[in-house]
Amino acid sequence: MSTLTIRRPDDWHLHLRDGAALHAVLPFTAAQFARAIVMPNLKPPVATTAQALAYRQRILEALPGGVRFEPLMTLYLTDRTDPAEVDRAKASRLVHGFKLYPAGATTHSDAGVTDIGKVGAVLARMAELGVILQVHGEVTDPAVDVFDREARFIGEVLVPVVEKFPQLRVVFEHITTRLAAEFVRRARPGVAATITPQHLLMNRNALFTGGIRPHHYCLPVLKTEPDRCALLEAVASGNPRFFLGTDSAPHARHTKEAACGCAGIFSAHAAIELYAEAFEAAGALGKLQGFASEHGATFYGLPYNEGTITLTKESWDVPATYRFGSEELVPLRAGERMPWRIAQSGNTNERR
Ligand code: NCD
Ligand code: ZN
Repeated sequence: MSTLTIRRPDDWHLHLRDGAALHAVLPFTAAQFARAIVMPNLKPPVATTAQALAYRQRILEALPGGVRFEPLMTLYLTDRTDPAEVDRAKASRLVHGFKLYPAGATTHSDAGVTDIGKVGAVLARMAELGVILQVHGEVTDPAVDVFDREARFIGEVLVPVVEKFPQLRVVFEHITTRLAAEFVRRARPGVAATITPQHLLMNRNALFTGGIRPHHYCLPVLKTEPDRCALLEAVASGNPRFFLGTDSAPHARHTKEAACGCAGIFSAHAAIELYAEAFEAAGALGKLQGFASEHGATFYGLPYNEGTITLTKESWDVPATYRFGSEELVPLRAGERMPWRIAQSGNTNERR
């Protein structure tokens, strides 16, 4: 197959940042995706509906002229989140979920939840109102091996939450392991997962190929080859519980190429092309539309997008860096060749 046309896709897990960084990265996502769930881990976090609506406005104002893109907002859950905030979020119709960051699990998560028991009343109200819980699924106990943190989270936190709140709709974000894919497949209705391009395309060896590779470092960290294969199988199966979430997470070059480099991989410049490459390798290009453009919308109770995006099997070279305000950003596959390119996007602005 040398051309592939699918319904316009959505990104159900995206970091857009704010200010100059937002202006730098938003055009990449808006050129490919009709909508995206915009993660709330700003500093300070986006923790109230009022803050989310203000952030949404800044995103809309940062859009290049004539480009259609809808930011879908989510709130940062903290130990002190008021259950009444769930009512305000629901009433806004623009806030679609709450994001659970275990305190200390990842970038800008120090305001996160220290103990799931502290947010019981909030989760109960979310279940009642049909507001979605998005979960960064890693335990933070420093005694737990970094490669085991997702697996431990399933048993220690996720299984109890899913059982205690049987009506709660849960997205297990950016899953990375065979165990997580298996858990989601077998879970009760109302449990789904997003999967990133990096976890479909790379295993943890990519962190150490010929030396340490900070631009392949993200959280949850890349896992083993059997884990990667299990994720590919999950998406290739066409199971609607799995859908697209890039977790594109830009950090300035100097903050990644550092003695203590930040976690996060920027993939928005080539997101749908990276997924096409992974699906093609799995012999499952026919399943890309469901994963990218349908399963997420169905789970979130939103309509499918109008229009299409067309990919063609034509190579292009990813630049070594992009501008990131006054800084530089090193994208995934920097300086390398991509096998798929966008021939047409449903967007008014064509990229290249
Ligand atoms: C994300 C970021 O940089 O905001 N980093 C990452 O490695 N994925 C935070 C997150 O989603 O964990
Ligand atoms: Zn993320």
